[in-house]
Amino acid sequence: NFMDQLLGTHQTEQQLAEYFGNQRCIVVSGNSEEQTKVADAFGEALSEALDRLLPEGENIIAVMGGTTMAVVAEQLSNLENKKRHNLFVPARGGIGEAITVQANSVSARMAAKANGNHRALYVPEQLSLATYNSLLNEPSIQEVLNLISEANCVIHSIGRALHMAARRKMTEKELVMLKQANAVAESFGYFFNEKGEVVYKVPRIGIELQDLAKVPIIMAIAGGKSKAKAIRAYMKNAPKQTWLITDEAAANEILKGV
Ligand code: G3H
Repeated sequence: NFMDQLLGTHQTEQQLAEYFGNQRCIVVSGNSEEQTKVADAFGEALSEALDRLLPEGENIIAVMGGTTMAVVAEQLSNLENKKRHNLFVPARGGIGEAITVQANSVSARMAAKANGNHRALYVPEQLSLATYNSLLNEPSIQEVLNLISEANCVIHSIGRALHMAARRKMTEKELVMLKQANAVAESFGYFFNEKGEVVYKVPRIGIELQDLAKVPIIMAIAGGKSKAKAIRAYMKNAPKQTWLITDEAAANEILKGV
């Protein structure tokens, strides 16, 4: 019955948070890979959590891209009030996603839904290193990069390493290297093995993994049974203040045999 289900989920949330040693886990019932309403529920949970956690004043919220983030963005509701204003920025630029799921699009959508503002980071895909470095010196890009570095909230998803590498059209050489390094997870353009160690990093501008340590509010959103290994790997070394929003399918798979 409903009460048992609720208690069951609550217990899973606590077990998961204990296992990862992170601040909080929210577990939505179902499997987001099979039912779209589960991913919608991630978004509702995120919206509630942000409303609770974002302090008064000017917040800078840096967001990553991906299909989960794009779905979740649609579920945000108003996060503005007289005393609280939110600016959404992309956390990293140009990691090779389709336009609709790029961090720029997600942050614009989140801002629209939450009645906040947003700033885009315009960096084309597939740049030569020389062009990339000179772009970094552009004042308009510098300005957004400065905002990103001052973010007090980061929202991101977690993906399966090889799946993400293929989707972002990384080179055959990179794919072989990721396989050899036993990469299982990807987040922020970083690739992780099962121990949660970084085995590869796509060189892009924006937030670096080590910058997360000083960010007080971090929300990681990922679910589905097939992502269990990736979520486990990333969460092992994730900053402890990270809240994980996931589903039962992933949580049960992660906790199997614990
Ligand atoms: O970095 C992780 C990916 O953005 C996850 O993408 O939500 O499409 O699985 P996804």
